[in-house]
Amino acid sequence: MISVDGARLNADLAALGRIGRRSSGGISRTSFSAADTQARAWYRDRCAEAGLTVEVDGIGNMFVSSPQLPVDGPAVWSGSHLDTVPDGGAYDGALGTLAALECLRRLHEERVPLARPVFALVYTDEEGNYSHLFGSSALARGFTRAELEALTGREGDRFADAFVAAGGDVDRATRTTVEPARIHATVELHIEQGPYLERLGQQIGVVTAIVGLGGGTVTFRGRPDHAGTTPMTMRQDALLGASALITRFPEIARAVGDRAVVTAGIIGVEPGGANVVPGLARLTVDFRDLDAARLDALGQAITAAAREEAARYGLTVELDLEPAIPPCHLDERVRDIIAGSAAARGLTAHAMPSGAGHDSQNLARLAPTGMIFVPSAGGRSHCPDEHTDPADVENGANVLLDTIISLADRA
Ligand code: GLV
Ligand code: MN
Ligand code: MN
Repeated sequence: MISVDGARLNADLAALGRIGRRSSGGISRTSFSAADTQARAWYRDRCAEAGLTVEVDGIGNMFVSSPQLPVDGPAVWSGSHLDTVPDGGAYDGALGTLAALECLRRLHEERVPLARPVFALVYTDEEGNYSHLFGSSALARGFTRAELEALTGREGDRFADAFVAAGGDVDRATRTTVEPARIHATVELHIEQGPYLERLGQQIGVVTAIVGLGGGTVTFRGRPDHAGTTPMTMRQDALLGASALITRFPEIARAVGDRAVVTAGIIGVEPGGANVVPGLARLTVDFRDLDAARLDALGQAITAAAREEAARYGLTVELDLEPAIPPCHLDERVRDIIAGSAAARGLTAHAMPSGAGHDSQNLARLAPTGMIFVPSAGGRSHCPDEHTDPADVENGANVLLDTIISLADRA
């Protein structure tokens, strides 16, 4: 049995965590930002240093392979993302990306005889600055030029501008889909990002399913007016409609199911003056559930509630919801391999669903896919306090290594 170099992996995590670090202690490496570009260059340097080969597809997904391992036939893929949410943490995406690199380095160093190629991957824009799970969606379904041209980022910037400025070619970005026959199986290591493993005192999570994701923007339009002279009874305040909708999210989620969640993470008003009644309010909605019918019910309940609140406050409302990413069940054979590896290494393991979205849910549409979780301190994630113990990092990476070897070895 070979193992990862835990000290090297934890040192890589610390080094990557310095790229995009802010004074808050959080990390902002949103996709195609200068920090994201710097992280990609740093990652490429690590690959070159190790003697590995890097290829990049039209949307910026990176595929790393070893000249010491097989190159032909369906491959085993493992990877995650280097981008972060604004003011995020040092482990979300970084762990799975660097652990896959560490596994490939170990296979390469030991010249482990395998039957199949192994690729370490970096998926573009997992956090959806421009589109949720962007890079893996480009692999699974592809994007048309019109879709790419229409995408805008959190800051309102056009994807096409940021992409071209970072050296991308929009035409090439329309040719990214991958033939399922090229992939034998995929596996991703990730922090849990929630409290369950820590609470239960378990070391490894064997992920059973990943939530479905719905979302988009809701825009309320009213009338801008003078904040001092317009009586309360004469206003069409767009922000009142938006606020009323948001306060209904807990009841909407509760009515659909225990694990249903609805969030407005971004809200903006126009024209945006302290002494002007808001004429427009735009919010993002992000809603999730493990069941496709419940996900659909959430979208319908949000739509109905937005229309009711618009009518109540004399507003109009437009909903622009993106096609939902369906929930998925992960492959039972890959799950068994992960559980077997945890047991062989004397680690406790717990089967559990993922409330966070992951590129693996797109990859599961292409090939048998599994995910491994390790505990998140205090269940905290998407914030500067995100932390996973170095011993858990090493445990997770060793289970990943065993799983990759098993998958790449089998007939
Ligand atoms: C990704 O982190 C997501 O769950 O949105
Ligand atoms: Mn994330
Ligand atoms: Mn992630």
